[in-house]
Amino acid sequence: MSFLTLESLNKEFGDFTAVRDMNLTIEQGEFISLLGPSGCGKTTTLQMIAGLLPPTRGKILLDGKDITKTPPNKRGLGIVFQSYALFPHMTATENVAFGLEMRGVAKVERMDRARVALDQVKLGQFAHRYPKEMSGGQRQRVALARALVIEPPVLLLDEPLSNLDAKLREEMRIELRLLQQDIGVTTILVTHDQEEALSMSDRIVVMKDGDMAQIAAPLDLYERPLNTFVSDFVGKTNLIKARAAAGSQGQSVVIVDGHADTLTQNLTLALPGEALIEGESVTLSIRPEKFLMSKEGPGHKVEVQASIFMGASWLYRVNSPMGELFVTQPNTGAAGYAKGDTAYLSWPDDAVMLFSEAA
Ligand SMILES: Nc1ncnc2c1ncn2[C@@H]1O[C@H](COP(=O)(O)OP(=O)(O)OP(=O)(O)O)[C@@H](O)[C@H]1O
Ligand SMILES: [Mg+2]
Repeated sequence: MSFLTLESLNKEFGDFTAVRDMNLTIEQGEFISLLGPSGCGKTTTLQMIAGLLPPTRGKILLDGKDITKTPPNKRGLGIVFQSYALFPHMTATENVAFGLEMRGVAKVERMDRARVALDQVKLGQFAHRYPKEMSGGQRQRVALARALVIEPPVLLLDEPLSNLDAKLREEMRIELRLLQQDIGVTTILVTHDQEEALSMSDRIVVMKDGDMAQIAAPLDLYERPLNTFVSDFVGKTNLIKARAAAGSQGQSVVIVDGHADTLTQNLTLALPGEALIEGESVTLSIRPEKFLMSKEGPGHKVEVQASIFMGASWLYRVNSPMGELFVTQPNTGAAGYAKGDTAYLSWPDDAVMLFSEAA
């Protein structure tokens, strides 16, 4: 049974629609991410769930109860915002216990529960520190403990890791996910970072201009995006303009127009799938890591325009019969291709995603 339900949720600011007809059912214990570019309506959605912003239309149900008009403090949800705003004059324990004081919990119990929450986020030994005596990551965890200590039915996180440096952010992703699974709290994370969403979520809701573009589990979303927007926003990809040619049953044939500045003329590709309407504009999407690059072939001849060493992998920009492409190849320890090198590019049929829309 759905634990948290959004029913045709809408938010309008004047004649601008920030969130349009959001329908979502979330299971108990699920970790859901709202992912999308700046301004797509992620924070607005989260604030409606928190009760900080009234919806223009629609309903929010928690555990079968309509909470659309319930004030935020009566919903009892745990919230961590990007700016986690700890009280500077209070220790970690006092910061965490503060929410319990507001709820009228007696002092001894408050301190006990605050200590348990700090242990959960592995900050037991920092209980007596003030915020200015802690690192960004430690402060972030105090904010998390403060949200968890009230044992909320739902944890709402709005870009909670965006203030942290890259390495700490990656560590916190894993810790946060393990903690969430451990205590089983239903969690909604707002992020514009696709890696964060992919690595932490059970399901991801991709949003665009107030609409839901796709809802799927991370691997499905990455491998089977519904449109060019999702394929380009989630992960990196090469979007290639093409036009449909006549194909037989179970086959779509597309022609990629040759580019004057590249090495060959038009390229015809036969792909698995329904025959397309001849002449229709389509878009191909191939992820950079799906290519196989070799010195001798087989494959299409390409010229390396740029070669960038990324540590775990090489990133190349190549000139190909399909135009300019980004290609990543794993670092095997051997030297990579250099600018100006000739190489051969191939790819498995199923690496090509075909969208019947113009790029
Ligand atoms: N109080 C408001 N009045 C008018 N427009 C608003 C208001 N709050 C938000 N908006 C608009 O609604 C849209 C969605 O805003 P929202 O804060 O939900 O975006 P977001 O997806 O969280 O973006 P970001 O990643 O930048 O935080 C934006 O275009 C924003 O300008
Ligand atoms: Mg936001």
